Amino acid sequence: MYDFDTGIGRRGTGSVKWDCPEYCYPGAGAEGPLLPLWVADMDFAVPPALSRAVQDRASHPVYGYTELGEDFKAAFAAWMRERHGVAPAPGTVHFSPGVVTGLALCVRAFTQAGDGIIIQPPVYHPFRQVIASNGRQVLENPLVLTDSGWEMDLEGLEALARAGAKALVLCSPHNPVGRVWRETELKSVARIASDHGLFVISDEIHCDLVLGGHRHLPALAWAGESLGERLALLHAPSKTFNMAGLQTSAVAIPGAEAGRRFEAEADRLGLHNPNAFGAGAAVAAWRSGGPWLDALLAYLGANADWLAKEVPLAVPDLVLRRPEATFLAWIDARAYLGRAGSEGKLGETVARRSRLWLDDGAKFGTGGAGWLRLNFGCPRSTLEEALDLLKKALA
Ligand SMILES: Cc1ncc(COP(=O)(O)O)c(C=O)c1O
Repeated sequence: MYDFDTGIGRRGTGSVKWDCPEYCYPGAGAEGPLLPLWVADMDFAVPPALSRAVQDRASHPVYGYTELGEDFKAAFAAWMRERHGVAPAPGTVHFSPGVVTGLALCVRAFTQAGDGIIIQPPVYHPFRQVIASNGRQVLENPLVLTDSGWEMDLEGLEALARAGAKALVLCSPHNPVGRVWRETELKSVARIASDHGLFVISDEIHCDLVLGGHRHLPALAWAGESLGERLALLHAPSKTFNMAGLQTSAVAIPGAEAGRRFEAEADRLGLHNPNAFGAGAAVAAWRSGGPWLDALLAYLGANADWLAKEVPLAVPDLVLRRPEATFLAWIDARAYLGRAGSEGKLGETVARRSRLWLDDGAKFGTGGAGWLRLNFGCPRSTLEEALDLLKKALA
């Protein structure tokens, strides 16, 4: 019913993924176009209802200031209830253009200059950048790689909280390691945050993209009551429905006072109205995009299975654990660090040798060196081409 197999040409659309080799390494793309499997957007057409909503709005010739309707908050709440079993009260939903903007607003609204904020690398790199560039101190509680996969260091987390950290930025599910945090882990986080007064900013942008056999637990469920005024949940339809370019996100803040502080911060930055297309697109996606998402998840799950099987066969020293969520494979390529030609960044070596553009793990901070992140939100034929290139690069 939905076609995820046919490639869609994206070059020439101003796409960050396809049109901006300057984000790769110096000189990238000079010898021919790169095959980009890096930044986290997918190469699939959006759900038909979303596309129709944008086209309907575009057909009206005036694109003036737009208000975020109550339908946005209600549709978001209904989506959270339906997919994740817990809904924010519509009055507690706030707008942010992007999730990173929402994170920056939370950092500014809920902490002071100089405060320590915990991140758990390897993690989505703007976390560090937003905290540091807003004059807060980045405190690292690195994830730990065990035989059963990446885990949070709960003792380390508690030690930082006890030592005076003011907030935690949680990535749930976690990009890039692909973990869906279990209830026991999240309850420990809630207990630590509650005992030591941590504000939890839970980035749940990937929560709809949970692959077979796992279940996401939103912070509203595991921390809503215990944290009260000290919780913000960041979400967006952007990853789920491939509409990052429409710059529309939702921030659920259960505490009334915290909600006022968030709005005051948005005012200080002059962030008022959404763009004319995003909210309508989000409402259409949340209301009608469920069947499309289910089909997408089946396709992504099959891509993940294929990669987990084929990557080690193609390149024996690579290790890939099937991600529990996201469309991002986190490949252990540490065996290649230090081999001839890969002294620098492994991702750059791969791109120079084969024109395959993956994210180098070092980008995600402590624990990331020697890993590669591959975006499998693309047709299987693209993955097949990418694997041939990866094999060539690391041969
Ligand atoms: C964990 C996480 N948060 C936020 C974002 C980006 O959000 P936005 O583009 O809405 O700022 C990403 C994109 O990859 C992400 O992985």
